[in-house]
Amino acid sequence: MSAPLSDASTGGRLATAAGLTATLLLVAFLGWSWHTSRLPDSYSVMDMGVVDLGGGAPVDLAGHAAHGGTPAGGTSLVSLSGPRSGAPDVEVTVEARQGRFELASGEELDGYTLNGTSPGPELRARQGDLVQVTLRNVDVEDGTTLHWHGVDLPNAEDGVAGVTQDAVRPGDEHVYRFVAEDAGTYWYHSHQVSHEQVRRGLFGVLVVEPAKATGHDVDAVAAVHSYSGRRTVNGRTGISRLDAEPGDTVRLRVINTDNGRLRSWVTGGAYRVLAVDARDLNEPPPVEDEQLVLAGGARADLELVVPADGALRLDIGGGTALVVGPSGADVLEQPAPDADLDLLDYGSPAPLGLDATRFDRDFDYDIGRRPGFLDGKPGNWWTVNGKLLPDVPMYLVEEGDVVRMTIRNDSGDVHPMHLHGHHAVVLSRNGVEASGSPWWVDSLDVLDGETYEIAFVADNPGIWMDHCHNLDHAAEGLLAHLAYAGVTTPFRMGSETGNEPE
Ligand code: C2O
Ligand code: CU
Repeated sequence: MSAPLSDASTGGRLATAAGLTATLLLVAFLGWSWHTSRLPDSYSVMDMGVVDLGGGAPVDLAGHAAHGGTPAGGTSLVSLSGPRSGAPDVEVTVEARQGRFELASGEELDGYTLNGTSPGPELRARQGDLVQVTLRNVDVEDGTTLHWHGVDLPNAEDGVAGVTQDAVRPGDEHVYRFVAEDAGTYWYHSHQVSHEQVRRGLFGVLVVEPAKATGHDVDAVAAVHSYSGRRTVNGRTGISRLDAEPGDTVRLRVINTDNGRLRSWVTGGAYRVLAVDARDLNEPPPVEDEQLVLAGGARADLELVVPADGALRLDIGGGTALVVGPSGADVLEQPAPDADLDLLDYGSPAPLGLDATRFDRDFDYDIGRRPGFLDGKPGNWWTVNGKLLPDVPMYLVEEGDVVRMTIRNDSGDVHPMHLHGHHAVVLSRNGVEASGSPWWVDSLDVLDGETYEIAFVADNPGIWMDHCHNLDHAAEGLLAHLAYAGVTTPFRMGSETGNEPE
């Protein structure tokens, strides 16, 4: 015998069924999200992302098979190399190793070295020199590469594993050849498992001196890096010294090789910012009582004048500093000034060399964050234009395009955005137009809540990364690509290929 079903119990069952359906749908959705987030074991950057024409003319999609183009055709970026023949003016071999090493100041660490040290050798070239660097991987297990950060060089020399070359396996070599066209301060670092290799030491400095000497008495580098929380300048913790005589003018090239912002300040005199990211500023005035803030990956060339009766001091925090002056002269540590130098209105305006009133393409680079799956892993991941990797933008351009990019950050964190192969000029921040010297960058901090408009000329064909230089963020998917119509790559990434650029 069966009891008649009461309305209440029918309602209850219906509710249970509805709940079950909702749960099943949710599980199905999560399963689908998980599944579609997984990256293939081997894939081409050409098949990645969402093609974005920036409102400009349609382009040749050769090689972008997944985007409705032909699978083949186009020009392989391998042909976009530096000069293959000719005797180099600067020729170096750097050997990459993994393991224990000593900082210049003596502390022992576990990480990566180039020619036995970290930072690796300081490379110096003169503008116009043909530079040849042979990277020999002695025993870096994951393989490695060298990327020339900030150098607008031919695409095939860019050193990005899985995009412009294969990672160099232990026992193998790779030769980079390029003409150092633009003077300035640069650095080089691995672009294979970079979030791990760079942090633990696989980087060095490249200075390209101008063809005509600048007339400074002293020209030196202050490369800042944190090794497991130890703040260093040129691989030294504590106070290091740079010898200079009273009255000397010093060009000090400050380089932020860390993921986070670098705050530094000068005690004992004023400083002028002669250049940022290897581009001279126009009529930079002296700065006092303001901190210099550099994005991850960014550089600034400071001019210091050694006082008649003492020395100057560059502090980077954590008690680590560089004293510039005659031996014996000392400067006491002063607290960091409260104010920051703002480059948006520093120096005097000058022609940009591009028409910033009309653009062939107008791109958005919106940075956000949301829960989801990244290559099958659940988490609260970065998004670009609302999407998670691999559905990030593939910004397509044609050679000669004048491009505007609007970078918006609503992700709750700061991101040092870095475009390979190009310099971009800052047009505005939060709607306020740049009013100082033209401010050209390759690494630009975009704080949470900020919007920057930048512009550049697409004058360097290739496939270029455009990513956050907090390398942990890049490894978490905060990246996109700038690709030129018709340029293809034969290289692939994914677990099966051994190429893992971030
Ligand atoms: Cu210095 Cu793609 O990086
Ligand atoms: Cu970031």
